Amino acid sequence: MRKKGILITGASGEIGDALIKNLAGREGTQIITLDLKPLAAGNENIVTHVTGDIMDSSLLARLVSEYEISTIYHLAALLSTRAEFTPEQAHRVNVEGTMGLLKLASEQSQWRGEPVLFIFPSSIAAYGLPDLEVKTQFPRVREWEWNYPCTMYGCNKLYCEMLGIYYSQNYRQLAADRPVMLDFRSVRFPGLISAFTVPSGGTSDYGPEMLHAAAKGEPYACFVREDTCIPFMVMPDAIEALLKLAETPVSALSRRVYNVTSFSLTAAQFRELVLRFFPNAKISFKPDLQRQKIVDSWPAGLNDHDARRDWGWKPEYDLERSFAEYLVPNIVSRYRSK
Ligand SMILES: NC(=O)c1ccc[n+]([C@@H]2O[C@H](COP(=O)([O-])OP(=O)(O)OC[C@H]3O[C@@H](n4cnc5c(N)ncnc54)[C@H](O)[C@@H]3O)[C@@H](O)[C@H]2O)c1
Repeated sequence: MRKKGILITGASGEIGDALIKNLAGREGTQIITLDLKPLAAGNENIVTHVTGDIMDSSLLARLVSEYEISTIYHLAALLSTRAEFTPEQAHRVNVEGTMGLLKLASEQSQWRGEPVLFIFPSSIAAYGLPDLEVKTQFPRVREWEWNYPCTMYGCNKLYCEMLGIYYSQNYRQLAADRPVMLDFRSVRFPGLISAFTVPSGGTSDYGPEMLHAAAKGEPYACFVREDTCIPFMVMPDAIEALLKLAETPVSALSRRVYNVTSFSLTAAQFRELVLRFFPNAKISFKPDLQRQKIVDSWPAGLNDHDARRDWGWKPEYDLERSFAEYLVPNIVSRYRSK
């Protein structure tokens, strides 16, 4: 008998760290994690961790020979800035890696006679607005608008959303017998901010970097202009979005890819807020023109009407609560205890 379990790829990253802590508290869930890196301290004892590459097909085969996987949270990826430095490698990990897991999930769905749930975090990087004028004209984009990403990461995310939908609805559509298909669901996240981890490799990182630097008493030079506006969300809401989408009956879903968001603000407003809590913070602006171009192509806000209507999505933390109740107290105690 194989043991039943949930698989989390990319589990040693920012979202993985928070997702493990949340899922591990739920009774009767065996969690298997897979990442190139070891897990963050504190997580090793609550899950079964495999250090390895999602591209390693014999490793994936070994995993399914041991475990009956009912749900996959596929988080492993190369993020937007890192992907621009190694675009072909990003394509391999972000697209071929995702494809390998979709194939695994679809074989497992067939074998179980029941769909494997496949949860995929997509991103605002799937959007690409041509210039600032259009960005101002479309302040809250809908899922189907402006799907013209200008980064390798954004192209990878958009294509993987489509692959996931294909594997959920049309896989082997010409075969005599329709296979049991997997159940793919995705959220397009804005920039995420955690109080407990510092991001790396993303292009929305200036927000969290500004805050963590201020708490550490270090100066920070923000790599985008003061007027740059994108949406953000704090990590507890991101985890809630993944879990809430996962538990919604499929009949309630009118789409498979949903925008979710919490608040939008400019880099200057971000700085003002940080200064309110850390009045001695030294934050300057030193835009990096190339990274600026990427952030300028991302929407200033997301319209998450469909997620709210279909599965009752609503962020717990608005801008004020995010800073006053989650970010600042936890970040202060994190660095105080170091
Ligand atoms: N953090 C954000 O702001 C944000 C926003 C939108 C979407 N997302 C998406 O959420 C997911 C998780 O993001 P994160 O912020 O935790 O990123 P992260 O960079 O902190 O974590 C990614 C993890 O994937 C692992 N990984 C990379 N390549 C791998 C491979 N070949 N095999 C196994 N593991 C591999 C890395 O070691 C890392 O631990 C990603 O898919 C990302 O695109 C994140």
